[in-house]
Formats: sequence, C-alpha cells, structure tokens
Amino acid sequence: MNTSSNNALKQRQRKSISKEKKLDKCPERKANDYGKRVHHEEASLLNSSSGFDNYRGILNLCIVLLVRAANITLLWYSMLWLKLISYISVNKWHRLGIVKEEEPTKTEQLVKYPDNITHLDLYYFMAAPTLCYEINFPRMKRIRKRFLIRRVVELFFLLGIMGAVVQQWMVPTIKNSLKPIQEMDIFRAVERIMKLAIPNHFLWLLFFYCFFHTLLNITGELLRFADRTFYRDWWNSSTVEYFWQNWNIPAHRWASRHLYKPMIRRGYSKLQAQITVFMLSAFFHEYLVSVPLRMARLWSFMAMLGQIPMAVFIKAFISNPNYGNVVVWCSIILGQPLAIMMYFHDYYVGSLQ
Ligand SMILES: CC(C)(COP(=O)(O)OP(=O)(O)OC[C@H]1O[C@@H](n2cnc3c(N)ncnc32)[C@H](O)[C@@H]1OP(=O)(O)O)[C@@H](O)C(=O)NCCC(=O)NCCS
Repeated sequence: MNTSSNNALKQRQRKSISKEKKLDKCPERKANDYGKRVHHEEASLLNSSSGFDNYRGILNLCIVLLVRAANITLLWYSMLWLKLISYISVNKWHRLGIVKEEEPTKTEQLVKYPDNITHLDLYYFMAAPTLCYEINFPRMKRIRKRFLIRRVVELFFLLGIMGAVVQQWMVPTIKNSLKPIQEMDIFRAVERIMKLAIPNHFLWLLFFYCFFHTLLNITGELLRFADRTFYRDWWNSSTVEYFWQNWNIPAHRWASRHLYKPMIRRGYSKLQAQITVFMLSAFFHEYLVSVPLRMARLWSFMAMLGQIPMAVFIKAFISNPNYGNVVVWCSIILGQPLAIMMYFHDYYVGSLQ
C-alpha cells in the first residue's frame, strides 16, 4: 500500500515537472509580466510636476508657424506698399490732368477726382484683389452666394491637402536630405532634390489654385469686384516672358504700369526696364524668405534674376514652342526644390554650428 501510494506520488510529480517544462517553453510564460501594473500615480506630461522637458517637437512647430506667419505678414506689407504707390501715382496723374476721362454709362455714374479721396475708397482698394488703383473699378450688381460658398469650401479643402502634403511628404524628404547635403554627397543630394520636386510641385500648383483662383475670387465676390483676371494660361508658356506676363496678373500689371512703362517713357531701353522690374521682384522674393529665416543668402534673389539669361537662352536656342514649354516646366519643377534645399541647408547647418 505504502509503495503503491509512493509510486503514484512520484508519477504525479514527474507529470507536473514535465508540464512545468512545457510551460517554460511557451513564449507568454517567458515574458512573465502578466501581473505588471498598468496604472501608476503619475502627473500628465504637460504638468510642470511631471519633470518632462523635451519640447523639441513643439519648438520646431513654433519655428515653422513663425516663419509662415512672418512670411504672410511680410507679403501683406509688401502688397500694401505696392498698393500705396499705385494710389499715390494715379491720384497724381488725375491732379495733373493727364488721365483721359471715361464716358459715364447710362446705368453707372462715374466718380470723378477728387471725389474719390475718401476713407471708404482707400479701404476698398486696400482690400480689393488688385495692386493697381483706379477711381472707378468695375463692380458687380450682386454677390453670387453659390459661387462664394463653392470657393469657401474649396479653400478649406485645399488648405487641408496643402498641410498634409507638407507634413507627410515634404518635411520627411527635406529632413532626410540634410546628411547627403552636409557630406556633399552630390549623387544622393540630387536624388533628394528630385524626390522633393514632386511634392513641392504639387504644393506649388495647389498654392496657385488656392491663392489666385479661390482666395482672390472670394475677396472679389465679397467686394463685388468684377475683374477676375488674376491669371492667364501660363501653363502654355513657351517663353519665360510669357510665363511672367501671365502667372501673376496683379503683380505683372503693377510692374508694367508703375515701373516698366514709366521707365520706357523716360527713355530707358526695354532691357533696362525689364532688368529693373526683375531686380525689384527678386528683392521681394528674397525679402519674403530671408527676413522670416533671419538670414540673407540671396538664393531666391539669384533665382529671380536668373530668369533674364534663361529667357535669352530659350529665345536663342529653342525655336519649337513645345520644347520651350517643356524647358519652362522643367525650370519650375526643379528650380524651386533646389532653392528650398539651399535655404534648408544654410538654416540648419548654420544653426548647428
Ligand atoms: C517686365 C514685364 C513688366 C514686361 O512685360 P511685357 O508685357 O513682357 O512687356 P512688353 O514690352 O511686351 O509691353 C508691356 C507694356 O509696355 C508697352 N510698351 C512696350 N514698349 C513701349 C514703348 N516703347 N513705348 C510705350 N509703351 C511701350 C506695351 O504696349 C505694353 O502695354 P500694355 O500692357 O498696355 O499692352 C513683365 O515681364 C513682368 O511683369 N515681369 C515681372 C513679373 C514678376 O516679377 N511677377 C512677380 C510674380 S511672383
């Protein structure tokens, strides 16, 4: 009896040891953290008592937002400056009596100088989607509500897509480019620029539509401003001149009316007037980038001035308009990411040193 119960006990012990061995091999058993507590007494990260102090990501976001906000503010001040020059010049032309008076139509009574010098008129011009002042702007009879709603919906939708393209596509590519650029690894740097060219070009096209079509049309609709020529078919440009005449009509009209033509009237050659316009435009491009980044590197300035030799090159060597169009597109697609990389390199390498 005693020996049989001893055997049974030994057998049971053997079984339980082999079971234990089996369980030891099981991966869940190895982890041995089933009882580990999930909840602990702990302050939230953003509480000062948590002791957390790694805000590098928030700091980067602030820099991006500050650069963007500074960029928009400078754009607004630049436009204000151009508008004031136009306002002063046009009123001077009227004061001197050198403007041909328009005939009033049956339906519309025209305002005559100096009746236009009112606060309301000045504020209207400051808000209007144009840089060139006129005493009598073409006006619409009513605001088209459906058109306005479509543009507003479009604006929010496009801003969301633009944000996503920047965050999800451009920022990682730019960050990955720092090393090859720092190490002067030309092949990898070129590969990064090509990679950046695609999202950058999407972003630029979205910006074009969002600003020149959506935003300026919203402003025009709200102010019943009837001239909606903010751009023409720049996408068909086979020459550099055609591109600059048609992609930003408000800037082109201002440049032609207040700088280019006055210079030609004073006896300067077309080339001299063109160079002056492009110098001014290059200054504004550089100003809009350099001031928010707090560094003047002149990449934007040189890119804008480079338009003149490029125009000469296309005129001299490319007679087929289709090839000209391809060259203009290539310069848009590749020129911008190159400039972005240059600024990124100078900004981060400069701040690391
Ligand atoms: C420099 C610039 C103004 C030249 O414009 P353009 O249209 O190529 O120049 P053109 O010589 O063809 O003519 C411009 C005007 O001057 C007039 N003009 C030309 N030569 C003239 C002369 N000898 N006497 C009087 N008028 C003359 C033309 O009739 C035309 O007038 P219009 O606009 O009323 O028809 C244009 O290229 C430009 O706007 N560039 C900069 C654009 C820019 O930087 N934009 C910013 C984008 S972000």
